[in-house]
Amino acid sequence: MSLAASALIEVRDLRKSYESPAGTTEVLHGLSYDIRHGEFVAVMGPSGSGKSTMMNILGCLDTPTSGSYALAGKATAQMDSDALARLRNDEIGFVFQGFNLLSRTTLEDNVALPLVYRGVNREARRRTANEILAKVGLEKYAKSRPNQISGGQQQRVAIARALVGKPKILFADEPTGNLDTQTSREIMTLVQGLNRDEGITVVLVTHESDIALFADRLIHLVDGLIDYDGPTAAYFRERAA
Ligand SMILES: Nc1ncnc2c1ncn2[C@@H]1O[C@H](COP(=O)(O)OP(=O)(O)OP(=O)(O)O)[C@@H](O)[C@H]1O
Ligand SMILES: [Mg+2]
Repeated sequence: MSLAASALIEVRDLRKSYESPAGTTEVLHGLSYDIRHGEFVAVMGPSGSGKSTMMNILGCLDTPTSGSYALAGKATAQMDSDALARLRNDEIGFVFQGFNLLSRTTLEDNVALPLVYRGVNREARRRTANEILAKVGLEKYAKSRPNQISGGQQQRVAIARALVGKPKILFADEPTGNLDTQTSREIMTLVQGLNRDEGITVVLVTHESDIALFADRLIHLVDGLIDYDGPTAAYFRERAA
């Protein structure tokens, strides 16, 4: 089977519960789907429907209570935290709504950070970080700090940091949530280019239909269950009719 035809992400009956003094609450009630190499998937759903919970599991930042999740053919259920961290470092770039940049650190060093964990030497880190900064149009700002650039530029730095390890997948949880419409479009055009030109698989959470429409496929969650999984355009066409 060719790589292009195989599933990069395989999720089967994925469940997640949280324990509290009041008892156990299940927030993901059994999700199943495949995502193939090169897909661009949007995830939507009401607040509290489980989008971030699901994304954190896909991003190997959290583990499911039951069910299975395989990434690039590797089952994650039996992995310890070190193995998950390695998988995350090798295969995944993660972008958050709040950018999560180190404020006292230059953009170059922010972007280079994931390479420190890979044992890449300082000179090679610098070189790679600057190449990626150029890709997101910020080469001039390599020595600046996050508070010296705009929100949209900070999000581009966060995307650069997510890309520096050459991940197969980019997970983004409301990457445009703090940005104005014009800046959001610029970020989405950047992400779309990475998907189309470099074949990076993208899974992106958003609350906005015009952002979701950049993605070919939509997974829509309601109360921890998938109520739609199909072409994005068809979803909005059906609801507009
Ligand atoms: N660490 C946690 N402990 C207990 N409950 C949690 C925890 N994290 C999330 N939840 C609960 O799980 C449910 C889903 O939360 P989640 O953050 O996944 O929603 P979401 O779809 O991302 O919402 P939003 O659009 O507001 O970001 C919510 O009811 C939330 O209160
Ligand atoms: Mg969320």
